[in-house]
Formats: sequence, structure tokens, C-alpha cells
Amino acid sequence: MDFKARTYTCNDLTEKNIDEIVTLNGWVDNRRDLGGVIFIDLRDRYGITQVVFEPTYNKSTHEIAKQLRSEFVISIVGKVRRRPEGTDNSLLPTGNVDVMVDELIILNQAETPPFQIKDDIDISEELRLKYRYLDLRRTRMQNNLKLRHKFYHIVRNFFDSKNFLEIETPVLMKSTPEGARDFLVPSRLHKGSFYALPQSPQTYKQLLMVAGYDRYFQITKCFRDEDLRADRQPEFTQIDVEMSFIHEEDIFGIVEDLMVKLFKELKNYDLPTPIKRLTYKEALEKYGSDKPDLRFDMEMKTLNHVFEHSEFRVFKDALKNGGIITSLVAPGCGDYTRNQLDVLTDFTKKLGAAGLIWMRVKSTQQDGNVELEAPIAKFLSDEEKNNIVSTLNAKQGDLVLIISGPRHKALEQMGALRLEMARRLKLLENNKEINLLWITKFPLLEWDDETQRYYAMHHPFTSPEVEDIDLLEKEPAKVHARAYDLVMNGNEIAGGSIRIHDSKLQSKMFNALGITKEEAEEKFGFLMNAFKYGAPPHGGIAFGLDRMIMLFAEESSIRDVIAFPKTTSGLSLMDQSPSKVSEEQLRELHIKVRK
Ligand code: AMO
Repeated sequence: MDFKARTYTCNDLTEKNIDEIVTLNGWVDNRRDLGGVIFIDLRDRYGITQVVFEPTYNKSTHEIAKQLRSEFVISIVGKVRRRPEGTDNSLLPTGNVDVMVDELIILNQAETPPFQIKDDIDISEELRLKYRYLDLRRTRMQNNLKLRHKFYHIVRNFFDSKNFLEIETPVLMKSTPEGARDFLVPSRLHKGSFYALPQSPQTYKQLLMVAGYDRYFQITKCFRDEDLRADRQPEFTQIDVEMSFIHEEDIFGIVEDLMVKLFKELKNYDLPTPIKRLTYKEALEKYGSDKPDLRFDMEMKTLNHVFEHSEFRVFKDALKNGGIITSLVAPGCGDYTRNQLDVLTDFTKKLGAAGLIWMRVKSTQQDGNVELEAPIAKFLSDEEKNNIVSTLNAKQGDLVLIISGPRHKALEQMGALRLEMARRLKLLENNKEINLLWITKFPLLEWDDETQRYYAMHHPFTSPEVEDIDLLEKEPAKVHARAYDLVMNGNEIAGGSIRIHDSKLQSKMFNALGITKEEAEEKFGFLMNAFKYGAPPHGGIAFGLDRMIMLFAEESSIRDVIAFPKTTSGLSLMDQSPSKVSEEQLRELHIKVRK
């Protein structure tokens, strides 16, 4: 049966519309049969309106309404009335009125859904993802997608107002190692050759700079075949940005302006600027992470100076081997039981620490003499005890935690323990604080023990700090990069760098990475070539859009802000991808699957 188009959405009607004849289309959210009168909450993505079927008002529609069940799609025509006294619903914008139905058309029936379309229900994520189209009917998900939509608009308007051009770049491109593993697409026309899906438009945006498009941005999909987590998807969206004739400060300026605008328009929050900066080294030493969460203090302190002459074997060895002794005060945790301390010790051991040293602060100098209760107390001199307490500014009743070992590992382990203690102390529960932070001065290269070579910490096109260029050949580990990350509440939400725009320096970089001339030519020849024809100094940044929206929506997984996400094992439970393909398809692509 044909139906009339709606004259209002399910969120529109108020007392202003009383006595008006209206048409509404939507889904049956809820059906109540109260002594012969049937009440339906009619839902669409805008809201809910109560519609009423009364046998004395219209006998035939009331009869049809008896068939209605949850999620049926219907169209009604009826008259708006004031709700009877005492039945108003102040939670709904339409809550003072309802619609007395004259005509009802059932547009489609629905099977009983596998879960109720409600926000506060406890269902597995698997079920939600399998029936994503039902999950997306829930208000929470709709709000997340609306937020995402607004986000795109603000970003596009912002960059447009700053004279940036949005330019699309290819999705089928050359496989260029960028950090993660590429997704490959076999070519039918060119046997044995493959396209790669972009891990990011990095090389293209640099080519656009060579082409003179000095302010570029793009909201774009990126693809990375890597191990997934709550904040990672195999395909995700970046706001990608690149600029010419600029320095770091110009990038920081643009990014901070954008963040101010996003927070103002979406949260009505005045973001304080300039955003705080921390070098990579400071971040690692103080918080054990390159994306520290600064919504709580608990700063780590290095105790190497305290234990310079220690007789305690573990510390002695750590210092002899050039390692670190790092520590943390857990305020008020001095009463932790042995069992609780064992759990913390296990936590750090799982992260690879040799052990966790703990000390209960029984008294401090203010209370008399420093007294520390600890399994290693007998190895500590009074001077060392005094120094621990004064360096850490520890108070009576605190718990001191110490990890020693190779520098980077020990700091990261302590950083993880810092987050764990914050969780135990409930420092982040209902914490509405917004904390943004730049991390700067990253190392350019990272040594990998397994393959015994250096890797670019960011990507191979990142420029070294000018004063470090000479070190590139002699002491590559000491070279700093002109790279920066933006961190929000402990999440890396953006990363970028000033690029190398000189082919000689780029060759040096490839050299340091152990990439031969031939390899460089084969993999990046097109970019190196372009640089021969007048490449301007340039740099940029890319934001992880899904992560930002996750944080703005106060969700804890990026899957909740993506319409059709994949599971942590890269599956789409709804359409069952990835899936097998026919022999015929494989043959056309010149591919044979090994058994
Ligand atoms: P980078 O690799 O740091 O930089 O990526 C930029 C931002 O993208 C987000 N991100 C992800 N989000 C979801 N799922 C993933 N798998 C994922 N991987 C990264 C992060 C990250 O900060 N071309 C460079 C940028 C540049 O140098 O301009 C790049 O892609 O929030």
C-alpha cells in the first residue's frame, strides 16, 4: 500500500501543533496495550512521538494496531492533542502531546530483534557488530555518528577558511614501506604486480608540495595491516595536512587553532593555548610513555644518583650496565597487603621487568627518622633512605615503587604501572578534564635488536634536527627528529614532522636506515626524482580522526564511532569479510592460494 510522506519527524511536535492533522513515519520503539488503548512510541533518528490507537476514536485502525510489534515500520495520519493530565513525559521534547491515529499503514513487519534497541542494555559487542544496522538505531550510536558528521564540517570549514585545498589522492598506490604492513591488491592486467592501499597519503602530499599546492588537507581513509586494539582499526580515517614554506611553529599554530575551534563548537569549552610541550625524553622519564596521560600527576623520578654507591646488587648491576633506576610514589598506598604487592609485582613481570621493589613509608624526617619498610631495607644506608624520601617527597603512609633495568624498558614498565596505580586509585573515574600535550624532539631512528638495524621512528622522510645532521653517520641513535605528536588524555591523536626536501639529505637518511641506493631508487625513486625539480621546504601532520571522535564522544573504543568497524581480529561480523573468493576470480588475478 502506498503511504503519505511525513509532515514532521518524530521529534517535532509540541503544544504548538495541537489539533493539527499530521503524518509521521518511523519504527515501533515500544508498544503498550492499556485496557484496550494501544500506545506506540514511534521512533526515527530525530526522536520519539507517542501515538495512540483508541477503539472509540477509530475502531478499524485500533484493530490493525493490535498486530504491531517492536521495529515494525509504519506510517500514521492523526490529530495532535494535549496529553491527558499526569501523562506528560518531561524527558521527551514531544512529551506534552501525542497523536490520535486515524490512519495506519504497516510498511514493513520485523522479526523480533536479537536485542532491544535501547541504550542501557548489556549485550556483547559481537552481537552488536553482527547486527550493526540494529545497533546503529540506538541513540548512543546515532549521537556518535552525528558528532562525527559535525566534526567533518568543522574541519572542512576551518581549513577552507585558512586557504587550504582539499585534494584526493589515490587509494591504489605503490607499495612503499612506511612502518606497518601494507594491504595488497593484485593487478589483473599486470600479472604478478600489486597495488598497495595507502597506509597514509604521505608521499602524495609531499608530491603536492613539489607541485606547488602549498596548503593541502584531506579527510581520508588509511589502511594498515597491523595488530589491532581498542584504538586501532585496519582501515581508519585521518585528517591529513601538509604545508610549504613553514616551520614547526606554523604547524603548531594551525593545529592549535583547529583544536580551539573543535572544543568550542562541540563542547563549548575554551581550550587554553598554547598547548603544553614536553620533549620525548622528558615524557619518557617523567611518565614512562610517549603519550602520557597528564590528567593526574604521579610523576616518576630517576634515582640513579641516590644509588651511585649502592651495595644492593640489582641497582649496582643496572647502573654498571648503563641502565636506570626509576621510581614512583603511590600516595596513601603504604597499607597495601603483601598479596596486593604481589599482584603489582606480577603486573610488572608480565611486562618484562625482572621485579618490582616496594617500600612502605613508615615515617619521614618530619615525623622523626626516615623509616622504610621493605624487603631490601637491609641493603640501604640511612643516607640512601633519606635521599629516596626527599627526592620523591614521599609522605608517611605512601608506597614507593622502584623498577631498575635497561633504560627504555624500565621507564615504559614504570609508565604502565603509573597508569595501573591511577586506575586502582580511581584517579580517572568521572574525570572530565581535557589534557592536550605536544611531544617534541623524538629520536629520528630506533634500533631493532631482532633485525639488527635502525628504523625510522616516524617515517623515512622526517627531517633530522639541523644541528644533528653530522651525527647521522657516526652516532645515528643520538639524532633528534623534527617530529611532533599531539596527545590527548593519554592517546596519540596526531603525528607529523618537518620533511627532508633535499635529495642529498634523503640519501644520507636512507644510508642510516641501511637502505641501499638501488632499494631507495626502486621504492622511493619517484619521490627522489620529484625533489630534483624544486621541492619547497615543507612539513605536516595527520590526525587520527576516529580517535579524536572517540575522545570527544567519551567512548573507550574507536569502534563505537565508526559506522561499520572491524573486530580486533580484522573481521567484519556483519558481512563476513574477509571471505573466500571463487577459483575464477583467483585465476584472473594470477593467484594460487597455497594449501
Ligand atoms: P601516523 O602514523 O602517526 O602518521 O598516523 C597519524 C595518526 O593516525 C592515527 N592512527 C590510527 N588510528 C586508528 N587506527 C590505526 N590503525 C591508526 N594508526 C594511526 C593516530 C596517529 O597519530 N603520514 C604520517 C603523518 C605525517 O607525518 O604527516 C602518519 O600517517 O592518531
